[in-house]
Amino acid sequence: MRQLEIALIGAGLIARMHLEAWIGAGASVRVHSLDGRAAELAAEFGAKAVDSLAEALDGADAVDICSPTGTHRDIALAAIAKNVAVVCEKPLAADVTEAEEIVGAAERAGVPVYPAHDIRFAPAFARLHELVAEGRLGAGTVARFTVAGYHPRPWTGHASVESGGILTDQMLHGVDIAYWLFGDVVRVHAHYQGEIAAPAPQGTAAVGTAVLTHASGALSQVVSRWTPTPQPPIRVTYHVSGTGGTIVHDSEWPQEIQVSGGPAGTFGYYGESPFSSEIREFAQALRGGPEPRLVSHDALAAVRITQAAARSAWTGRAVELPVKGAAA
Ligand SMILES: NC(=O)c1ccc[n+]([C@@H]2O[C@H](COP(=O)([O-])OP(=O)(O)OC[C@H]3O[C@@H](n4cnc5c(N)ncnc54)[C@H](O)[C@@H]3O)[C@@H](O)[C@H]2O)c1
Repeated sequence: MRQLEIALIGAGLIARMHLEAWIGAGASVRVHSLDGRAAELAAEFGAKAVDSLAEALDGADAVDICSPTGTHRDIALAAIAKNVAVVCEKPLAADVTEAEEIVGAAERAGVPVYPAHDIRFAPAFARLHELVAEGRLGAGTVARFTVAGYHPRPWTGHASVESGGILTDQMLHGVDIAYWLFGDVVRVHAHYQGEIAAPAPQGTAAVGTAVLTHASGALSQVVSRWTPTPQPPIRVTYHVSGTGGTIVHDSEWPQEIQVSGGPAGTFGYYGESPFSSEIREFAQALRGGPEPRLVSHDALAAVRITQAAARSAWTGRAVELPVKGAAA
């Protein structure tokens, strides 16, 4: 099996999880960051630190962008210009225009873009998708997805008319799951409550919610909350109902989920890290294996929906979205 060469950009919270996963998938990784932490992080996992983006990209099979969202566009375009595949943390870009630029450039160059929406790889969500795809929930689905967690990074705390804050950042997780399960979203109505400051101080508390109307007729509500303290740790839940039954999951309480009276699986918060499953699937695709469960257009759809949520929250009106094609 050929060893993949990965250029990992960033040495923060999320880069650490990706690096561990790439090493687990057998890749050789060069780490580049701007904060002087690359050397320490690389040494911890037997990777190599490099001084520049150009050095990281030189001869790489893929770049893995784990730097702040506002830097994604330039790094992705630099990689695509060198025919280097792109793996990118969520959101793919800071806004729809930048996300479209990345996807357009990648398509013209024939370079794959794999968005790292790790929630699709969390066992409880992957199983939910299987159950919905199998038709176990029947028709007329209504869903609620929630995420709550501490927000320690000032560079995304900021919520303003230009930046959606939690609506375009943390909310993307629930939005992506709703889109994966029920397809295109044609209408978004959102609300935001919290700091409106740039940058927001550490421990900023905020809550956002969006109701999504899917072209299929399904309705999803996504709720996101930034908690002011690191404890309790991140908590995710869902409650999904159709004519065939209801599936409920709460990451706090390992439980067997049931649908239509029959068992459908047991999930806890722990287990294989979704980052490991995600990176393994991307690594297989980069080695010529099957396409991963999400590609560039899924990232674009998620950015379009979250940006519409931000627009809705600031105007107080629902936002209509054109249908851009069916979800994978
Ligand atoms: N999937 C998830 O659940 C999840 C969770 C947290 C963050 N994220 C995403 O991951 C990305 C990074 O977030 P984080 O929390 O790890 O950030 P962080 O602030 O902890 O780390 C950012 C790193 O990027 C480096 N960096 C900044 N600009 C750079 C540049 N131009 N070139 C090279 N390196 C640069 C910094 O030096 C730092 O090492 C963001 O897009 C964020 O939205 C995803």
